[in-house]
Amino acid sequence: MARCSVCGAPAVAYIRYQRRYLCRDHYLEFVESKVERAILRHRLVGKGDRVLAAVSGGKDSSTLLAVLSRLSRRIGFHVVALYIHLGIYEYSEKSREASIRLASQLNVPLIVFDLKEVLGAGIPELAKASRRPPCSVCGMVKRYVINAAAVELGVDAVALGHNADDIAVYNLKSFLNQDLEAISKLGVKTESIPGVAVGRVRPLYYVYEKESFLYSLLAGLPFLHEECPFVERRQMEVELKETVNQLEYKRPGLKLQMVSKLAKRVEDYPKPKGSIGRCPSCGLLSSCGECSFCRVTRRALGRPMGPVVREWFRRRAQELGLGASWRSSLS
Ligand code: AMP
Ligand code: FES
Ligand code: ZN
Ligand code: ZN
Repeated sequence: MARCSVCGAPAVAYIRYQRRYLCRDHYLEFVESKVERAILRHRLVGKGDRVLAAVSGGKDSSTLLAVLSRLSRRIGFHVVALYIHLGIYEYSEKSREASIRLASQLNVPLIVFDLKEVLGAGIPELAKASRRPPCSVCGMVKRYVINAAAVELGVDAVALGHNADDIAVYNLKSFLNQDLEAISKLGVKTESIPGVAVGRVRPLYYVYEKESFLYSLLAGLPFLHEECPFVERRQMEVELKETVNQLEYKRPGLKLQMVSKLAKRVEDYPKPKGSIGRCPSCGLLSSCGECSFCRVTRRALGRPMGPVVREWFRRRAQELGLGASWRSSLS
């Protein structure tokens, strides 16, 4: 039986690119210290900061929330979780259950935002009315709601669950399309723009998908194994994922090298053109005129819903004692 390279206990994992076997406890520590190093190296979150962790109910967000909640005690920051119920039938019901169980197991406050309850329409209805593919509407809606929540709750950063495999595949796909502006968005963090956008951080940047999956299993975290029914098995991404995994097999550590190099060079890529402005309807970030969320909801529901979303989070912030008062109550 293989033994842990650190303590000699029975091993549960082999880290090929380090040629090390690890037992359960040392495996959990291995993933946590990867995240901690990313946080410290890139100054993702500091002492006293407030972080909004966006959780989907899947394995990556469960690892994200668990590791952040452990590190929050060590580093001294505060975590609140946000789950967006997208109204995608049974999938959304199950992922909400998983997120609620996860947050209560970890003892982290969770805000559940129900799209259908607040807007009167979920992703399927918005996609149909705007004649856009559900995944593209969904991505835009999630980005909007997460940012609106972060602005209203007065947090310092939003934490997302993208892992090293996600970054490597988006990076290659964007490179093949020569979409260099898309690569410029693949860094470990984006900066805040006061009043309109809160910076996003990716604490799992150096964590492989397989590592995040094993972490959530070994830590006994609740998470949903199913994928969203709308997920587009876009051939290109599936093939790139396979290719990256084959290369990793032949050259252990390749994915890690790729994301590490990207993190260093990402600033050199051209940023998307267009000025940074405010949406005339909701006041949040928009590159030209009304933001996509206000535009799509105006078309689908008859009026721009950005202000409604902001108001909903403003009220939640007050009920929870967060928002502007949070800062003073914590300091
Ligand atoms: P995706 O857009 O599905 O690739 O997800 C990227 C990240 O967005 C996840 O790792 C989560 O941090 C966040 N996220 C995805 N779905 C949700 C959701 N329903 N509610 C809140 N955050 C989410
Ligand atoms: Fe957004 Fe599937 S999670 S369309
Ligand atoms: Zn050990
Ligand atoms: Zn808007």
